[in-house]
Amino acid sequence: MSDTVSTDAIDEILARFADTEGALLPILHAVQAVEGYVPADAIPRIAESLNLSRAEVHGVVSYYHHFRQKPAGKVVVQICRAEACQAVGADEFAQEAVKLLGCDFHESTQDGAVTLEPVYCLGQCACGPSIMINDDIHLRMTTERLKLLVDKARSQA
Ligand code: FES
Repeated sequence: MSDTVSTDAIDEILARFADTEGALLPILHAVQAVEGYVPADAIPRIAESLNLSRAEVHGVVSYYHHFRQKPAGKVVVQICRAEACQAVGADEFAQEAVKLLGCDFHESTQDGAVTLEPVYCLGQCACGPSIMINDDIHLRMTTERLKLLVDKARSQA
């Protein structure tokens, strides 16, 4: 994964949404879908194409938890931090996950392989604590299961 967005990719994305009203969010989603995050050098180009200030674009990127400002690891662990999961121990589970991975939310493990992110409801509220590892949802999580799942995901990445 590159440190900067490719010129071709950003040009294609900006052209695709040239006639779209309220294009900022769709553009940011598209950039993240291609690059895995929203590189800092994409922001002035997006701002210019939408006639917005860099601060406005940066403000949106930093407001939404969904948008990453740096590359993620090959394994992305998202832990639900919403209310129903909190009610069944997700806060304690999240603290254990931080200890287990040795990194905080919005950060990656020291080797860069695993990124920890919060998510606010995975639609599995009756079976929390809920998490998603890459595209797979896992329910009724425990720290022991998280360790097994992360080890497995690491070995397959
Ligand atoms: S609150 Fe966690 S899945 Fe809905």
